[in-house]
Amino acid sequence: MESPSVPTRRGRVPWQGLLLAVSLLTSWSPPTTAQLTVESVPPSAAEGEDVLLRVHDLPGFLAGYVWFKGESVDSSRQIASYVIDTQQMYPGPEYSGRETIHPNGSLLLQKVTPKDTGYYTLLGIKRNFQGDKGTGQLRVYRSLLIFWSPPITQQLTVVSIDATEGEDVLLRVHNLPGDLAGYNWFKGECVDSNHEIASYVMDAQEITCGPANSGRETIYPNGSLLFQKVTQEDMGYYTLQAIKRNFQSEKGTGRLRVYRE
Ligand SMILES: *[C@@H]1O[C@H](CO)[C@@H](O)[C@H](O)[C@H]1NC(C)=O
Ligand SMILES: *[C@@H]1O[C@H](CO)[C@@H](O)[C@H](O)[C@H]1NC(C)=O
Repeated sequence: MESPSVPTRRGRVPWQGLLLAVSLLTSWSPPTTAQLTVESVPPSAAEGEDVLLRVHDLPGFLAGYVWFKGESVDSSRQIASYVIDTQQMYPGPEYSGRETIHPNGSLLLQKVTPKDTGYYTLLGIKRNFQGDKGTGQLRVYRSLLIFWSPPITQQLTVVSIDATEGEDVLLRVHNLPGDLAGYNWFKGECVDSNHEIASYVMDAQEITCGPANSGRETIYPNGSLLFQKVTQEDMGYYTLQAIKRNFQSEKGTGRLRVYRE
């Protein structure tokens, strides 16, 4: 009697073979070498963003993938497994409904939460039942205001200005996006919390000073930054990050030149 079989994209595979592949993927830990690399894109994400855990250096002749939460191949922490021939995904105990395994092994996590922070391990199972694994790290931040590097589009502009020492100077902002949650101002050309001058939260109308604040800067509700009595030390680049309510942000950089009288 012939065994039943299921149709696949590559023809028909024996039903028992598929069942074996699935049970291997869900329960069995093969001899494993650590050669894969897993990269989180972006490396750190704001709550609510989608994150792709990308896989590099995949070996050939793979039968399937298994993704785990944590740094090891531990079936109790399995997120899901994926059989390449059938393009079927099988959820595991750590599956939250927001994960998708792509045919190239990458794991998409939708609408990440701070609880998703941690290590993720991919096991690639080869057709000779050897395994290849790799671990990557994901960080998710709840804070609107610090540390994360969100997707950035350059539309916003900060108007560069020349001033004389001792003057009050306003760094003006144009093309602010709508639906803003707040602003961060930084000394320098990048979004770097070590060089934060101040942040402003729209709802609370509250200014919080950062490490680069000299006590002479004020943020206006329209995003512009006022310097009182500029000095030569204030000379340089300044970057505004405008944060939207959907946690996306835009940034712009302007230059301040200060001349002696
Ligand atoms: C894998 O597939 C996803 C979805 O199509 C894609 O975004 C990603 O760039 C691909 N490559 C890698 C290396 O993850
Ligand atoms: C922003 O507010 C300040 C203070 O009220 C004002 O001087 C400035 O013209 C406003 N507009 C821009 C584009 O900075």
